[in-house]
Amino acid sequence: MNEVLTLIDKLEESGALSLDEYERIVDGYTAENADILAKKATSVKRKYYGDEVYVRGLIEISNYCKNDCLYCGIRRGNKNADRYRLTREQITECADEGYDLGFRTFVLQGGEDGYFTDDVLVEIIRDIKSRHGDCAVTLSLGERSYESYKKLFDAGADRYLLRHETADKEHYGKLHPPELSFDNRMKCLRDLREIGYQVGCGFMVGSPYQTSRTLAKDLKFIETFKPDMCGIGPFVPHRDTPFAHEKRGTAELTCYLLSVIRLIYPPVLLPSTTALGTIDPLGREKGILSGANVVMPNLSPVGVRKKYELYDNKICTGEESAQCKNCLEQRMLSIGCKIVVDRGDIKK
Ligand code: 5AD
Ligand code: FES
Repeated sequence: MNEVLTLIDKLEESGALSLDEYERIVDGYTAENADILAKKATSVKRKYYGDEVYVRGLIEISNYCKNDCLYCGIRRGNKNADRYRLTREQITECADEGYDLGFRTFVLQGGEDGYFTDDVLVEIIRDIKSRHGDCAVTLSLGERSYESYKKLFDAGADRYLLRHETADKEHYGKLHPPELSFDNRMKCLRDLREIGYQVGCGFMVGSPYQTSRTLAKDLKFIETFKPDMCGIGPFVPHRDTPFAHEKRGTAELTCYLLSVIRLIYPPVLLPSTTALGTIDPLGREKGILSGANVVMPNLSPVGVRKKYELYDNKICTGEESAQCKNCLEQRMLSIGCKIVVDRGDIKK
């Protein structure tokens, strides 16, 4: 038996591997190993979730951002970005429309926009929760203080997505300007968990300066933190960023890592991301077949979708919400999976 498969057996028995062992799994990528791991990951996923795929309605509430992350198309330094923010009414309208389409989770995602103070967000969360009490509200709004996270949780937010981006401090420093700190990012994740959120972390595959060692650290972090959700997608360069000419990540390695993450923490909620669908026309199908169990159709008003451009050529920017949902529904059916109307909580 080859080394990767021996290591995966060890992982399945003990639930843990060393950093060196994770690194050997990453380095051991071959199409054949990827295939075997995808099958293992899918069968593990089935035990928890069957062939059901959860949907999250993504509402991109603002592309203003005070941060200047080197990879991101809505970084404050990008003077070409056409900035927008949705009003409270627009956000509730998106949620109402999503509810009618069968969504039971709404993800409010945006840059770190000072307009969205705790008071403003509390109103919006209460709005959605009072209109749709059977829905989960997920926030993805970057780094905030413990007190802020607590207020939003007390207002009814259920989940929070904050990708750790890389679990290697030095690598983190190469992806971010000096005013952003790895330690604060990690503190935010711990705060969110302590407050009681279901927490999502995640990282890009193929980001500049990433190595099999930094990826091993990401996997080790997932093993120890046991996030409820984990968002991973390929890095895709954006033309107006310092990383415009860097290489993008591959669908193959992204899918391989999705399988490994499913095997590290079997109940994890794992989205097959828009970025994966952007670099490969069948990327999201391949992600699901590698062990992912979540998709996130876009519910943002069509007029702003192109503006929420984290990377070049992002898909799903021209379609109405209903079209986007139908499109994904068909795509899932084509691989024998079905989208369900459900909050889609983690099944631990
Ligand atoms: N390519 C792929 N993903 C990106 N993100 C930001 N910029 C890019 C890019 N150029 C991801 C980051 C962030 C999430 C919202 O989108 O991981 O946390
Ligand atoms: Fe959005 Fe296909 S999934 S248009």
